[in-house]
Amino acid sequence: MEIRDNLQIKTFAEYKKTYQKSIEEPEAFWKTVAEKFTWTKKWDKVLSADFKKPEVNWFQGATLNITQNCLDRHVKNHPNKNAIIWEPNDPNEESRHITYKQLQVKVCNFANVLKQNGIEKGDRVCIYMPMIPELAIAMLACARIGAIHSIVFAGFSSKAVASRINDSGCKMLITANDYYRGRKSIKLKEICDEALENTPSIETVIVYRRTVNPTSMKEGRDKFWFDELQKAYAECDPVEVEAEHPLFILYTSGSTGKPKGMVHTTGGYMVGTTYTFQNTFQLNEKDIYWCTADIGWITGHSYIIYGPLCAGATTVMFEGVPSYPDFDRFWEIIEKFKITHFYTAPTAIRSLAKQNVKHVEKHNLESLKVLGSVGEPINEEAWHWFNDNVGKTKCPIVDTWWQTETGSIMISPLAGVTATRPTFATLPLPGVQPAIMDDERNEIEFDGKVAEGKLTIKAPWPAIARTIWNNHQRYKETYFSAYPGYYFSGDGAYRDAVGNYRITGRVDDVVIVSGHNLGTAPIENAINEHEKVSESAIVGFPHDVKGNALYAYVILYDHNDATNSLKQEIRDMVSKNIGAIAKPQKIQFVTELPKTRSGKIMRRILRKIAANQTENMGDTSTLLNPDVVEEIQKKKV
Ligand code: PRX
Repeated sequence: MEIRDNLQIKTFAEYKKTYQKSIEEPEAFWKTVAEKFTWTKKWDKVLSADFKKPEVNWFQGATLNITQNCLDRHVKNHPNKNAIIWEPNDPNEESRHITYKQLQVKVCNFANVLKQNGIEKGDRVCIYMPMIPELAIAMLACARIGAIHSIVFAGFSSKAVASRINDSGCKMLITANDYYRGRKSIKLKEICDEALENTPSIETVIVYRRTVNPTSMKEGRDKFWFDELQKAYAECDPVEVEAEHPLFILYTSGSTGKPKGMVHTTGGYMVGTTYTFQNTFQLNEKDIYWCTADIGWITGHSYIIYGPLCAGATTVMFEGVPSYPDFDRFWEIIEKFKITHFYTAPTAIRSLAKQNVKHVEKHNLESLKVLGSVGEPINEEAWHWFNDNVGKTKCPIVDTWWQTETGSIMISPLAGVTATRPTFATLPLPGVQPAIMDDERNEIEFDGKVAEGKLTIKAPWPAIARTIWNNHQRYKETYFSAYPGYYFSGDGAYRDAVGNYRITGRVDDVVIVSGHNLGTAPIENAINEHEKVSESAIVGFPHDVKGNALYAYVILYDHNDATNSLKQEIRDMVSKNIGAIAKPQKIQFVTELPKTRSGKIMRRILRKIAANQTENMGDTSTLLNPDVVEEIQKKKV
């Protein structure tokens, strides 16, 4: 598989034809795609699946090693091409350029460290590291020997790490001593030490020295990365695994209960992420691709590491934050490496749009060809700001809808090939069959009319998570019970008359006001269109007459504008854009919203504050900014 092979769709007509074929003959379609990859043994059957059970198998009977596809194959064809370009947090520290050949050697070398510490095929390894190349090396080294990595975002607390380690019984923890994110120093090993008090399954801890600071090490358990490397060979043959062998576990929060360890398997995930990477972003050989996500999230797994590397691309990793040392850091990096493809999150776009536009204007962004957005609905204002100021109206924006569970992009424009439409993820990728369900749980078939309802997927695609670690029953209940025979995404969607999809937000965020179903995302969109508003979040709260009413938390560009007359303007804006029914009953101006570290607003907390149910806030450990909860509560209206 190479970047530009004949699997890249080049015209809208070709998209239509390919999509049709992928739906009518899914096995023949995915077989053609899969044949571009390196397998040790080909499959007996492309697909056997039943969403009713649920059970999904892709490429059964096949064996492979994914690192042969993302390393060895490219080492043969272009050993000196950069695989990873790494930009440190501190702009005065040198960036690192790692070629495919160098990456292969590093991965093999570290794979031997895993082996010499007793890690074997099927063992779970927890990786808790900052955004440094060694994180990529550690994950690929696991894949090299068939060990299952479980990456925990380095912003999580010790409790969160411990519970994830225990849930999947990890034998090893790989971490770093400490590091800087912006101006903040994070003592990762100390957090690990706290976690390790309650993780009996961990036998070995490998510690990468990111700084020269002293590090406490426990005799017999903790070992330094470099010391271990010295003892290890540089060559390591890839271990052959079955197509359905788990590649990794990645935890995602549920609307209730503890995090779910989504299990992704090897063959289908490889085919799905690579194919969607190639077609969504439309890279050329010499392009430089940058996804700003953290590898601790699915976006980083699929579209910093596995997709881009399997396709032989150059992928950029950034250790820092967009605001350090100043708010132009993203734009500076784009200029520095001549980034062609820039994939980021609406929350980042909105926070940068709040800054003086001079930050953007002072950098030469001419290298950019394609922009991308992921993780939440992108509001119209942010879309236009991104399009005008970053893309200079020349770069298509791929608004990619997908999930930890889907593994790969599901609905998105193909850059420059299919049309974009602000706030719409637009059309499904080949092989993806979305369906909209009505309140009676029936599918609303596409008939050239607009439709709105719950978003499901009605046929298996290669990168779907196969189960929840140790809890197949929860997998079944969460995703396959609401609509038997369909995968339920938990999202709502609107489909326009030509079949473009717009994600309207989580359906658990839908509020019913006076019997009307109101998605919170469109109301927020309307509020955000006010020129003084930077961001907003809407939740429902109980109301005597209407059943529910709406509570709006609104962040302004300038907090001095927080007046009652502005509240009225905001209500009028909603009235104008959606209807009087959607007008928020209460509006509270806030300076920040409670967000998870991946940038998602934790609405559960906002709902509790709005409903005056603040005795038990539940788990707030995954919040980026826990203090904000009290601040909002104090000023409740
Ligand atoms: O609600 C959708 C939203 O993010 C959810 C998935 O979150 P997570 O598993 O953390 O994965 C995020 C990265 C893929 C979805 O159920 N979401 C994701 N992408 C979009 C989106 N909402 C609207 N538009 C998107 N492009």
